[in-house]
Amino acid sequence: MNSLQAFSLEGKNALITGASYGIGFNIAKAFHAAGISNIIFNDINQELVDRGLAAYKEAGINAHGYVCDVTNEAQVQQMVQKAHQEVGQIDILVNNAGIIKRIPMHEMKREEFQQVIDIDLVGPFIMLKPCCPR
Ligand SMILES: NC(=O)c1ccc[n+]([C@@H]2O[C@H](COP(=O)([O-])OP(=O)(O)OC[C@H]3O[C@@H](n4cnc5c(N)ncnc54)[C@H](O)[C@@H]3O)[C@@H](O)[C@H]2O)c1
Repeated sequence: MNSLQAFSLEGKNALITGASYGIGFNIAKAFHAAGISNIIFNDINQELVDRGLAAYKEAGINAHGYVCDVTNEAQVQQMVQKAHQEVGQIDILVNNAGIIKRIPMHEMKREEFQQVIDIDLVGPFIMLKPCCPR
């Protein structure tokens, strides 16, 4: 038995933010190898979501993609509600969406720093609120 077989996610649904491609998509592939039932993911525009849906289909992963900005509380609540209706309970949340600004600190504008904080720090808080069990 390998480590993924010992760690079964059979029957579970996972929401991975910003998972059209990159590390998020690769987390989804690892979850799939561990038996996950459904991946729910979001991205910032329809083009990226469509790109993601095609990649999940090719990988044989059941996926549901939504356009949703993790910094927008109304969009996040709407997406989580839709996911509950269309997929079911969210068992796992991976706050993967994030940005890095490769700008030397002394050149970085306050708004640029604020955008990083909003997506990387406030986004996970906004995502967690409607996802956590009550
Ligand atoms: N790649 C690295 O070396 C590295 C190192 C440390 C941390 N990270 C972090 O790991 C995570 C994934 O990294 P990656 O390399 O796959 O990044 P990536 O830039 O390739 O992918 C990030 C994804 O998040 C999405 N996204 C960005 N802003 C969003 C928003 N407001 N709402 C919803 N989705 C949004 C992007 O469209 C993209 O799909 C990120 O949080 C990144 O900061 C990456």
